[in-house]
Amino acid sequence: MHCRPSVSGHRFLGFGSFLPMLMLVALFGLTIPGCPSGGSNANEIVIGHFGSMSGSEATFGQSTDNGIKLAIEELNAAGGINGKKVRLITYDDKGDAREAGTAVTRLVTSDKVTAVLGEVASGLSLAGAPICQENGVPMISPSSTNPKVTKIGDMIFRVCFIDPFQGSVCAKFARSEELNASKAAILTDQASPYSVGLQEEFEKAFVELGGTITTKQTYQGGDQDFSAQLTGIRGSEPDVIFIPGYYTDVGNIALQARKLGIQTPMLGGDGWDSSKLGEVAGKALDGCFYSNHYSHEDPNPRVQDYIKKYSAKYKGTPDGLAALGYDAARILFEAMKRSKSLSGADIAAELAKTKDFDGVTGKISIDKDRNAVKPAVMLEMKNGKPAFVSTIQPDK
Ligand code: PHE
Repeated sequence: MHCRPSVSGHRFLGFGSFLPMLMLVALFGLTIPGCPSGGSNANEIVIGHFGSMSGSEATFGQSTDNGIKLAIEELNAAGGINGKKVRLITYDDKGDAREAGTAVTRLVTSDKVTAVLGEVASGLSLAGAPICQENGVPMISPSSTNPKVTKIGDMIFRVCFIDPFQGSVCAKFARSEELNASKAAILTDQASPYSVGLQEEFEKAFVELGGTITTKQTYQGGDQDFSAQLTGIRGSEPDVIFIPGYYTDVGNIALQARKLGIQTPMLGGDGWDSSKLGEVAGKALDGCFYSNHYSHEDPNPRVQDYIKKYSAKYKGTPDGLAALGYDAARILFEAMKRSKSLSGADIAAELAKTKDFDGVTGKISIDKDRNAVKPAVMLEMKNGKPAFVSTIQPDK
């Protein structure tokens, strides 16, 4: 359904129909019946989500959107925010920075949303955040881990840990008994701020722990042929290959590496988190590890409850992004309930006060830099599926 008010369609209406039309507009504003216009009003609060609903990171946006919608459904069933229902507008940015900018501009300036949720990919959050900041609209990234995202300004928050922590978690794990690696090769997506940033943090921590880097190779998201980089990596004889990329590329890299006879274990970060990872790679990633925000095998009742609710509404088990989208939305709603008004500044002030929120992805407190401090989990791919290995607490 297209909900954009259009005037051109009325060109052929006679003058007689013009007056009643005017009265209708005066009565109801420029809305189309059944198509509520944007902008929060006395009965509802409109929030926005920009995400990759299509493209090679499609599960990022789709899972996040599912998590947000589940949170909204529960909120509205329980009476909403001080009596107001929440309505969501989602735009697909197709995993593209320019589209992300356009989507956020539309949410903020024409839909006049009260707050924005998104993005997953750090590069896309970095594209959207300045627009929210300039317009005084609070934005919460559920899952962007690059430190630069929340540095955009005091309207920008996140509910996930950041990459200096994630990089050190991966480095410690590489050096631990589990992998016992002293030499690491790195393969980075040079076009992705997430990948570049996480690679730097991993390298720093790995070297500090006494490891050496054998080679640093790069690719560009969407590349199809990784044989040159993989041949270089093979020649450098690493104990582990660190690949801070997104799932589609990682799956393709693993398939090609195994075809080249490279059996070295691979290690990565949260960007691997997708049900599609195993679908692309098959068993090529078995025995490989990645750090993440959540494991569906966590016996914690809060996690298992969430999984039950999620799989009753959608098919399948929620991934970390669905859990983070749910947590981000619920933290926003709690801040809105406490807020003395629905102005961006008042909501942001309440978001900043978030402390010990019992999230599916752990206890969430927002620190002075508007980041969340919380544990990470390490997962191992087994038969194409992630299995829980350990939980790593943040340094005190
Ligand atoms: N942390 C990644 C980034 O900043 C996004 C991501 C989070 C992907 C969680 C998968 C799971 O780009």
